[in-house]
Amino acid sequence: MGLKPATNPDVEAVEIELSIDGKSVTAKGGVSLYDVISSTGKIIPAMCYHYTFDPFGSCGMCLVMQEGKKAPVRSCTAKATAGMIIRTEGDDLFQARKKAVEKHLSVHPLDCPVCDADGHCELQDTAFQHGVTNLANAKQKFIPEDTRSPVLDFNMNRCIACAECINVCKDVLMIDALQFMKKGGFNQVVPKGDLALSCEFCGDCLAVCPVGAITNKFSKYLYKPWQMKKTTTTCNYCGDGCQMYLETKDAEVVRVTSPLSWKNKWGDRADTAKGHGGLCVRGRFGFEYIDSAARMKQPLLRKGNQLVETSWLETMHQVVDRFSDIRRKHGPDAIAGLITARCTNEELYLFQKLMRAGFGTNHLDSSARYGHLNFVHASQHALGIGRSPNDWEDLTKAKAVILIGSNITETNPLTAVRIKEAIRVYKALVVVIDSTVTNMAKLASHPVLIKPGTEGLVIDGIVKATLDLDLIDEDCVKKHPQAFKALKAAVAHISLEQVAAHTGMSVESLKNTSAIFAGASRSIILCAEGIVRQPNGYQNVLKLIDLAWVTGKLGQPGCGVNTVTEEPNEQGAVDMGAAPEFLPGQASFNDQTARDRFAKAWNITLPAAGSGANLVEILKRCRSGQIRALYVIGENPLATLPASMEVRPALDRLELLVVQDPFLTDTARMAHAVLPACTSAEKDGTFTNLEGRVLRVREAIDPIGESLPDWHIMTALANALGCQWEYQSSNDIQAEIMKLLPGYYNLGQPRKVVPTVDRYLSNGYATDVAARYRASAPSDSKNQRPFVLLMGQILYHSGKMSTKAPGLVTIAPNTGRLRMNPQDMERLAVGEGTTVRLTSDRGSVQLAVQPDQSITPQTCFFPEHFNEPPVKDLMSVEVDSTTGVPSFKQTRVTIEKA
Ligand code: SF4
Ligand code: SF4
Ligand code: SF4
Ligand code: FES
Repeated sequence: MGLKPATNPDVEAVEIELSIDGKSVTAKGGVSLYDVISSTGKIIPAMCYHYTFDPFGSCGMCLVMQEGKKAPVRSCTAKATAGMIIRTEGDDLFQARKKAVEKHLSVHPLDCPVCDADGHCELQDTAFQHGVTNLANAKQKFIPEDTRSPVLDFNMNRCIACAECINVCKDVLMIDALQFMKKGGFNQVVPKGDLALSCEFCGDCLAVCPVGAITNKFSKYLYKPWQMKKTTTTCNYCGDGCQMYLETKDAEVVRVTSPLSWKNKWGDRADTAKGHGGLCVRGRFGFEYIDSAARMKQPLLRKGNQLVETSWLETMHQVVDRFSDIRRKHGPDAIAGLITARCTNEELYLFQKLMRAGFGTNHLDSSARYGHLNFVHASQHALGIGRSPNDWEDLTKAKAVILIGSNITETNPLTAVRIKEAIRVYKALVVVIDSTVTNMAKLASHPVLIKPGTEGLVIDGIVKATLDLDLIDEDCVKKHPQAFKALKAAVAHISLEQVAAHTGMSVESLKNTSAIFAGASRSIILCAEGIVRQPNGYQNVLKLIDLAWVTGKLGQPGCGVNTVTEEPNEQGAVDMGAAPEFLPGQASFNDQTARDRFAKAWNITLPAAGSGANLVEILKRCRSGQIRALYVIGENPLATLPASMEVRPALDRLELLVVQDPFLTDTARMAHAVLPACTSAEKDGTFTNLEGRVLRVREAIDPIGESLPDWHIMTALANALGCQWEYQSSNDIQAEIMKLLPGYYNLGQPRKVVPTVDRYLSNGYATDVAARYRASAPSDSKNQRPFVLLMGQILYHSGKMSTKAPGLVTIAPNTGRLRMNPQDMERLAVGEGTTVRLTSDRGSVQLAVQPDQSITPQTCFFPEHFNEPPVKDLMSVEVDSTTGVPSFKQTRVTIEKA
């Protein structure tokens, strides 16, 4: 899909007919002639054009003859009009294009043998096609390589000044980090201001460069293209689920490339049709964790105080004996399991089956508990759907977006690109409500800065303003008069002036936001960490659903309340039933019909209805001694959860802690047995992204050392425990899921989910609506500590896994510094690097500070990826009484010079 209306196949445009090489072609009027030619399957060279941004028209390669014109025309900049008669072939065109290639090659070094683009170079291809060998006028440029960026090197000797890199960065990513600059007699691409590159390091400029002028620092000189195996797979960092090519040489991952490339301007654009096909910095440059030297290569067994390398056979014997022993002596409920949402659907399915059928317990949970389950439960409760209803295309075409509590360019950069497209192409009005000055706020039509932790109150204000201004959809509300009456009563006490005073969002802005949302034909709400990972997340999502309901946006095309997922398979974890409250398919664990169905399919008796402990409860029961054995797959609660959750005492008390992970994590160091697991690059399976799209994960390299895929280890464990599982591959597990959840694997298309609005509104709504508008009442304690400490994700990292990727650590090392607004630093008389004491009700740490303009006054920020110093241990925890989600990303602190 093109990113500008002129070339957007979905844009309303008149259908026209034109002739290309004697054949009649139907197209949309006004689109680039190059795109029309390309859609017929003809490939003509185009070195400066890519359909994702406006044509630049500099390379002179895309020449065609148009009847009525004497000279060839550049098809990229020409717009298709009715009746055009176009010829794309012929000796005259061949010669004209050949001249253009000669011109480019005359100032281009012939260093193909040492160029990373060798074999993937449009100039090389066109020179070959046109037989360009005579370079009598060739001159060398001798421009020194610019190696100042941590990830990209710029070799301007090879640049053909096509501006593709500049245009993708400016138009598509809206970052605008590159420019042309005349230097040494040549037009060169330089980072803005000719300083060291300072940008998001997504590498999309590298992807679209048709030559080897921009190179990947991490893979330079490591390969020739024909030596590499290219595996199409899904990124394992966030829930966007970007498709990527993992390129490997022997057992080594050499580089990651994207569907976005200079090549996708030709013919079939299916690879990039849903989004531009690029990657973010994590996806493109974060691959080195896969074959990191720190990977665990052999099982470890605790012998005394030491974890000792042991054979799989001996380790599994011990693990099975000890699990069996505990089950025999204390029953199945003495065992629990935790799993990461970085595992595949097939593994998450197998995990819950192992816990329920193998061990006989319903004490199980996944990292979706850290927030996503707040969204799932609210959406399930109110609408009967446990995921976001809108896909990327809906987001792109939205006319109004409320983005609340989401630093989306940092957490989900490619979903952010869709919102950027909505802003740029569809002129969407975007209201960004956040307590940080986010990147998206800088691009949005309506950026709103609020006080940290007041998102819930802001929603109260928007709902109230919507009712006050009568921006309701009469048809929707009159179907449910009782519910509407109850909503009006629930918000009656809310004063917009008070909301404004407590949140920092003005009354006018509250009203304006209501008007924008209610007034647009395609209105989308997107809420994320600032809602679902915060106290009252569940209630706040319900209030957003209220807003969508009264404005008539529920179930309407292109409208809905959505979230994003930070880990790649949080949606899959919920869908596969890796939570005590859900069986696969999000069936309630207590639903008798569903229980009967799964018990029959698995040929077991399920643990009792109503049984089951979630993450917080599991840790509690570990501490109390009720749970004696814990099986942890890919999770690292010790490093993730604050000290107040008492993870260490919980793990200390266990008789058996088994950790299965690619790395020896903090939690693994406490284990009795550590099982080396593969990364997603070494196994097959699927992830379900934030749109509900099921995406293939493919094995690109053999397992490192003796590590094994998680599904393989779980199958072995289950069989040793007496199950008779016959899975030989991830496909076998998939086949079972397909039978139990027909339609789940919907060939890469998100399954359509339609909210059932009426059920809840006529049954239960009126009795539970008041509680959510009471929940966010502000507490105004005079003795509050003056600063709010926020912990959150930064663009260059994802959980702790990215800290094992040297490339990402090079870009964003742990500075160990607290980010503060410069005004606050001035007030406290602390300079950059000054050590301060940060104190919460939970304790103190000392660390240096650094200025950050995006942090609002009286707020400070520390990235959640790092525990040195242990800032996370300052956090208190609030557990949602409905969803069991623990919130621990925000607390009040004092800051003083140490
Ligand atoms: S890496 Fe991405 S953000 Fe940086 S200059 Fe290239 S396209 Fe722009
Ligand atoms: S660096 Fe590559 S993409 Fe950028 S202008 Fe030069 S040739 Fe084109
Ligand atoms: S946006 Fe998410 S899925 Fe896409 S490349 Fe980046 S981390 Fe990977
Ligand atoms: S001038 Fe059309 S592709 Fe370069």
